[in-house]
Order: sequence, then structure tokens, then C-alpha cells
Amino acid sequence: MKKPSLLSFLFTLILVAAAVCIQGERVKDTYGFPLSPGEQYFIQPVKTSRNNGGGLVPAAITFPFCPLGITQTLLPYQPGLPVSFSYKQRRPNPPWPIPPVNIPTSYALNIEFESNIWPFCKEFSTLWKFDDSSSAPKEPPILIGGTRREQNSIFMIENAGEGENTYKLTTFAGTVGAIPGVWFKAPQLVLTNDTAKTLVVKFKRVIDPTTAATSTSRVEKQGLRMFPFF
Ligand SMILES: *[C@@H]1O[C@H](CO)[C@@H](O)[C@H](O)[C@H]1NC(C)=O
Repeated sequence: MKKPSLLSFLFTLILVAAAVCIQGERVKDTYGFPLSPGEQYFIQPVKTSRNNGGGLVPAAITFPFCPLGITQTLLPYQPGLPVSFSYKQRRPNPPWPIPPVNIPTSYALNIEFESNIWPFCKEFSTLWKFDDSSSAPKEPPILIGGTRREQNSIFMIENAGEGENTYKLTTFAGTVGAIPGVWFKAPQLVLTNDTAKTLVVKFKRVIDPTTAATSTSRVEKQGLRMFPFF
């Protein structure tokens, strides 16, 4: 009975292949290196005919100013303020047996702005969240001031499929998109189900692994100079 065993072997192989696919793939940065928790990245919106701006910065979106929202700077060469990603919990999400070394797609993450200088809204954390309050608009804004492990502060990275290493950020309540904001209509980050508004992004590591040229303090000054008026 050689044939059935070969068939069952092939069948097992297909099951294993399927399981590997379900587990998600490694997210890659602009250089093609896998994304790692704890590293700093600029989240760079992919330039299109509709969108030719720079990176993402915290910005006042309401009056009073706190908590801050997140806006894409209109200056095309500003990289924005760096973020880091961390796992929502020490115990891994199924089906991962241990926390993955590199960040996979569809994996529950916290996103945090990285800055040693944080002069505004100090009573809020620098973690991203979405506005899940009862007064939130239909497309709730992304805010600064999240709480680790809380549902409103959990984001996932998914493939956007709009070119090499392009991604979108999702949550349990919708995808991260952009709408014209209050400051000169600079794109403001919100949750939306409207795919036309989806924010397609790339992740650029702050320290270029090939040259190690970027100094964090310079980056920080750039990020904060435009803050909140970019
Ligand atoms: C998106 O659709 C889901 C499912 O219908 C809904 O629960 C969620 O509130 C929607 N989110 C937004 C931002 O419209």
C-alpha cells in the first residue's frame, strides 16, 4: 500500500502549508528587512496623486488640544515622528507558540510615538488608540493616549498589495484611513470602512542599517518643530 501513504503524506504537506499561510507573513520595512518590536520606524504614507505629503505627526485636532490626534504633515520631505511597535501581551496570540522575533501580519500590536521630548498633553501616554467614546464621530479619530492591552489600543498590520512592502493598519473596529483635517486640510487619521480612504503606508527604519546615518536627536527636533502646526 505505497500509494495511500504517499497521498496522505502529500495531504499532510498541504495542511502544513495552509497552516503556515494562516499564521501570516513577516512584515517588511522599506529596505526589505523584517520589522522588529522595539525598533524605531517612520510610518510613511505611500505617495499617490491624491497624497504627496510627508510622515505622521501628533497634532491637535480639537479644542481643547488634548488628547492629540495624528496628522500627516503636508511637507513632503518631513519624515514625521518615529514609532515603535510592541506586542499587546507577553503570552503570544494564537497560533504562535512563542512571541515571534519579527512582526507578522494580523498580529495584535501597540503603536507608540518615540520621543524623549514630549512637551504637550503630558498626562496622556504616547500610545496610539482610536476614539471609542460614545461621542466619537462615525469615522472615529486616531488619538494619542492609549492603554496597553486595551481593545481600543490594539492595531494590526495587513498587506495593502499596492506595490512592494506596502501595508495598512487595521483595528477590530475598522481600517486606519485619512480624511481632510482641521489644519489646512492635512490628512487626519481616522478609522473607516471606506476603502477609498485607506492609508497605505511603508515602514522606514530610523537608523538606516546600511549607513547608520540618522541621528535620533535630529529626527526628534524635526518631528517636534512642526508640532502641532507642522
Ligand atoms: C466598520 O464595519 C463594522 C462591521 O459592520 C462596524 O462594526 C464598524 O463600526 C465599522 N467601522 C467604521 C469606522 O465605520
